[in-house]
This record gives sequence, structure tokens and C-alpha cells, in this order.
Amino acid sequence: MSVPSVKFNNGLSCPILGLGTWQSEPGAVAQAVTVAIDAGYRHIDCAHLYGNEREVGQAIREKIKQGHVIRENLFITSKIWNTYHRPDLVEKAVRTSLDDLGVTYLDLYLIHWPMAYKEGDDPFPADSNGKVIYSDVDYIDTWRAMEKLVEQGLVKSIGLSNFNSKQIDRVLKIAKIKPVTNQVECHPYLSQQKLFDFCKARGITLTAYSPLGSPNRPWAKPGDPLLLEEPKVKSIAAKYKKTPAQVLIRYQIDRGIIVIPKSTTKERIIENYNVWDFQLSREDIALISTMECNGRLIPQAEGRAHKHHPFVNEEF
Ligand code: A2P
Repeated sequence: MSVPSVKFNNGLSCPILGLGTWQSEPGAVAQAVTVAIDAGYRHIDCAHLYGNEREVGQAIREKIKQGHVIRENLFITSKIWNTYHRPDLVEKAVRTSLDDLGVTYLDLYLIHWPMAYKEGDDPFPADSNGKVIYSDVDYIDTWRAMEKLVEQGLVKSIGLSNFNSKQIDRVLKIAKIKPVTNQVECHPYLSQQKLFDFCKARGITLTAYSPLGSPNRPWAKPGDPLLLEEPKVKSIAAKYKKTPAQVLIRYQIDRGIIVIPKSTTKERIIENYNVWDFQLSREDIALISTMECNGRLIPQAEGRAHKHHPFVNEEF
């Protein structure tokens, strides 16, 4: 079967479920992508920062070579990192991802975060106190350079990631090409309903990262709540004879949100894809929505002092 898709404001479509690759070790990610494509995934979410685009690309190319899939049926996303925001660096950044992934175009290229860091190949350039050095490049200027990539045919669609509502409106004011999506942290602790409604009203889709509550985030502390262990999620899972992860994935799909769970475990990659034989009811979604607690798990702490940090002093 083909994965249901979401239509972008430019007429192109994106499979509603994709494989996330943040924190997928280079040694494990190729196998994960292979398993995912075999299972039916056609959407792979990547980023230069993840440090594994070469391995992702090897697996994709191998699958194409074997005749299991054609490039046109895959949806490949990458993201420009904060140190390449200066307009003259944008084309070089996308070409690096294209080379690493071994493809001639991306389906989607996102500005990973609104904050620019000091230009260069060190992703977290730091001063002698270990503090990240910022750059004052405005994401508006980065956006204008991203538009040129569409005109050059290097990327089919462009979008945002981790932008708040005010920042999205600033981009829309100057955009010749509208962003197709805003990819943000989204799960029952942080349902993003306001941002979702805001984006929808402007023809922008939402993409949910960390939909399972990012249990392996490096800064997780013992005793932090575990979304996959939440009794409400477990009770809904038991009702449908599905797993908590499948309920959390369906929670996004049933709201019309694109979702990209990460796994490098074969059984889980397959499990996370097997969500087409059930649907959450309105009541299930209402019950899950009671878990909202503004519970942001990915705060991007090293960028907090940046004037463009999206989550400081912003309502949504
Ligand atoms: P692993 O990659 O070892 O399989 P998120 O997408 O919210 O960031 O969550 C990713 C994390 O959740 C990874 O640690 C991943 O582990 C784990 N994970 C992925 N799928 C499942 C699943 N079906 N059940 C339990 N844990 C999962």
C-alpha cells in the first residue's frame, strides 16, 4: 500500500509518515533506512547536523539500484544548519547535503532553527568559556537564498523548523515562495495546537518531530516522565490492541500532522509503520489532549540568549 499523504501549498505531496534519523548512529542508520524502505516508508527525514547523511544516502542508492524503489517515489528532507545561514553559504550547504545523500534534488529543505551561529564548519562554534558564538544573520535573508534553490531545481519545496508564530509571519511577509511546513517538537505533552491552527490558517502544514517523547534525548534525567509509559496512552493502546508508540503516531496522523518517529531497531521501524488498520476516535484524542503541559523536551539551550531563539518570551 502507499502511505497517505498531505498536500502542500505548492501542489506537491508529502507522505504523512516518515523515518526520523536524529541520533541514528552512522553505523546503524543505513540498516534502518533499508528496513524502512522495505517496510513501506517512502519519506526519510535527514539533516546535515545529524552527521549521518552519507550513510542514509548509501542505503537509499542501494535500494534504488536494487530496483526496490525509484527516486521519484521517495520523499527526502534535509535541513540547513545554523552556521550556514549567511545567504552566500546557502547553496554550498544544500550541495553538501545533496552530495552526501547522493541525490540530485531534495524534496524538502528546511531552515533547521531560526538562530544563526558563527559561520563555519564547526556546528557549535564556542568561545573560550564554551559559549556558542552567534551570528546576526537574519533568517529572512536566509529564506530569500532558500527560494533561489527552488528556482535552480535543487529542492522541490522549502520550509521552516522550530519557528514560532511571529517568526513565521515575518517570513511570510517577504516570501515569494511560501514555506510548505514548519517542523517542530510535537507530542501529547506539547500538542502545538495553537501553532498547528496558526499554520493551517496560512496554508502551512505541521511536521511533528520527537512524537514518542524523545526517550533517548541526551539530557534526559532519571525520573523525567516517559510518554510511552503514560497510563492514558497505554489504555488506548490496549483498547485497539496496538502499542503506545503506534497510538502516539496515530495521534498526529489523525490530526493531519506529518510525523517522523525515529528508530534504528528493525522491529520498531516496522511497528511504527503498521498504523493503517486503526484510527483514534474524537474521545481518544480528547483524552490524549489532557496530557498537554507545555512539556518541551528539546529546548535548544545553547541558543537561548540568541535574539532569534524561538521559545523565549513567545506565547507559541
Ligand atoms: P531505537 O532507535 O533504539 O529503536 P522520538 O522519535 O520521539 O525522538 O523517539 C525516538 C526514540 O524512541 C528512540 O530512542 C527509539 O529507540 C525509541 N523508539 C522508536 N520506536 C519505538 C517503539 N515502537 N517503541 C519503543 N521505543 C521506540
